[in-house]
Amino acid sequence: MDTLHTLQGQKTSYVLDSSLGMPVCRYWGQRLHDESHLDDLLKLQAKSFQAAALLNQLVPLTIFPEQGTGFWGNPALSGHRAQQHWATAFHLNSLQQSPDSLNFQFIEEHAQLSLTLEILLDAETDVLQRRTILQNLGNTPYHLNWCAAAAFELPHWSQELLMFHGNWTNEFQMVRQPFPIGTLSRENRRGRTSHNSFPGMIIGSPQFCETSGEIYGFHLGWSGNHRILVECSAEGDRQIQLGELLMPGEQVLSPDESYTSPWTYSCYAQDGLNELSHKFHTFARKHILPQRAMRTPRPVQFNTWEALYFDHEWEALKSLVQKASDLGIERFVLDDGWFCNRNDDHRALGDWWPDPTKYPDGLKPLIDCVLEHGMEFGLWVEPEMVNPDSQLYRQHPDWVLNLDPLPRTTGRNQLVLDLSRSEVSDYLFNSLNKLLSEYSISYLKWDMNRDLTMAGHEGTPAYHQQTHALYALLNRLRECHPMVEIESCASGGGRIDFGILKYAERVWTSDSNDALLRQKIQRGYSVFFPPEIMGAHIGPAECHTSGRKLSLQLRAHTALFGHFGMELDLRVLSPEENTLLKQYIDLYKQQRDLLHHGQNYRLELDDARWGYGVVSLDQKRALFCLIQMEVPLNRFSQRVRFCGLNPNYQYRLQLLPPVDPSIHKLLLQSENDYENGILMQGEMLLKSGILLPMPFPETSILIQLDVP
Ligand code: GLA
Repeated sequence: MDTLHTLQGQKTSYVLDSSLGMPVCRYWGQRLHDESHLDDLLKLQAKSFQAAALLNQLVPLTIFPEQGTGFWGNPALSGHRAQQHWATAFHLNSLQQSPDSLNFQFIEEHAQLSLTLEILLDAETDVLQRRTILQNLGNTPYHLNWCAAAAFELPHWSQELLMFHGNWTNEFQMVRQPFPIGTLSRENRRGRTSHNSFPGMIIGSPQFCETSGEIYGFHLGWSGNHRILVECSAEGDRQIQLGELLMPGEQVLSPDESYTSPWTYSCYAQDGLNELSHKFHTFARKHILPQRAMRTPRPVQFNTWEALYFDHEWEALKSLVQKASDLGIERFVLDDGWFCNRNDDHRALGDWWPDPTKYPDGLKPLIDCVLEHGMEFGLWVEPEMVNPDSQLYRQHPDWVLNLDPLPRTTGRNQLVLDLSRSEVSDYLFNSLNKLLSEYSISYLKWDMNRDLTMAGHEGTPAYHQQTHALYALLNRLRECHPMVEIESCASGGGRIDFGILKYAERVWTSDSNDALLRQKIQRGYSVFFPPEIMGAHIGPAECHTSGRKLSLQLRAHTALFGHFGMELDLRVLSPEENTLLKQYIDLYKQQRDLLHHGQNYRLELDDARWGYGVVSLDQKRALFCLIQMEVPLNRFSQRVRFCGLNPNYQYRLQLLPPVDPSIHKLLLQSENDYENGILMQGEMLLKSGILLPMPFPETSILIQLDVP
């Protein structure tokens, strides 16, 4: 068997060497075009010239490092069989290969385990998918503690990490740090993807940025507990492992039973973060997201939450429907507060039928009214949860995840239903199926408002099975109602990952509608995920979660670059605000084709001014937004260099209305410039850029570029 295995992407090559059994990655980077010289990768491979204080036989860092080979770092597998077989050394048993996949199967005769490493490379986007399957071949249980979905050796130039930290209303905060000495473990034990530790990381050359630097991006597509482990041994070996974090006893494999890890998605980029994002976005569009997310224009949404909260009063609803339709809104989403007895967040979760006081004739009158006004109807649900004060809980107190007799700790006054019990999943399926069958509902906002703590099923940890049961429930519903779109919300952006996105057309990115916070959140989000599924709403003038007051212009410019919507009380808008809002809705409709099918670019400016834009695939249209985040340190502006344009095209640059007259006057020489735009060569815009006046903080401008 040839022992060098190559997967070729459009721009990258991934080369593994299985001559020692467990493969070693000999190369992962820019595409190697001439395959006849691949053997060169095996030459001059001596790692150390001095064996003193080392093992006599140097242990290579493989794509699945194991303790039974003498490897002293964190192994990719950790477990035992009655305290034996805790260190494995697998032997290669078979390999199945195709031009875009490798499937290695190994056996550990002593430990009686079989291991399969599945590797796929999507040639178009260069995204590498990997996962691991472990099977117990013995006749006693095998206790699994850790099974990396994938492990990667990292080259010496990987010197900086970019991680994603966060909290409620502050998701996807980017944090950089030098490559650690020893081990760094980013862990999540909250049972959902989490606001705090997004399962993704970028590792790259010193000071990599949006437009330059060699980098790798890694993401675990999993909506439960996870661990990302980054390690540098004292000798200098570097590795990263990604996988599901297992609680003690969570995976005990009975004879013949197997464990399948979540998929990891990773990618190499030669020129910084923008390039990496294009690859992940295209991959998500083609291979992860349900097709509706791409095929149909993303409708302008209105959501009732920050307009009404729990006060669902018929007159208010009717007037919101009217206002929304007058503005040109296309989907009306009824948020929390509609179901039986739900007057605050202390009760009723689980009782999924309309509140008889608020909706004496069910939801039909409201839905009819929405449809008659030319909009689709969407509904909020939070199926995985139950309030102790609910009919469901009173009837089935045993249906929740618990660690009785420990106290049943509530979060937002709720407990989590144990979805792995078929009667629970059936109840939820039937409740939702009834709603979707009875009513004309084209969209569900599927919420999940608490972390899983103490998630036990008959005493055993149930995080893993809960996540799979959730996927199964979503799948079952989608199969019965393929035209219904689903949004993944978890107190905002607590559940955004490639695992859940196989079942969701949209995410609620954050409960914060504060445009400045949103800029940061959306920037971090956009590293992995495309804009058309990013729920982004114009909130009230005074943000309900931060108290900050921001202009409608800034709020609109910020929401425009996602799946655009409104979440404010339309009844209290001034006539000027109403006109402006209508203008932005029209603008979104004109631009959404570009916004949702182009390539996204984060500009490298400075801390005070941020820039973000989308360029069409043919490079003939672009829309950029420049945001003055804060008061700059310098009096004079820096030049703004664009990205993604074609150097050989001549572009017409226009500021999109409404423009603050002071900026307009400073930037453009005459009224004529404003009307007709300024012509500039792509090369100039890319290399030299334009000098813009320094506007007041918390303002923004929209720049349209097109080839006339
Ligand atoms: C969560 C969501 C909000 C809203 C409320 C309703 O916090 O993130 O958007 O739907 O629940 O209770």
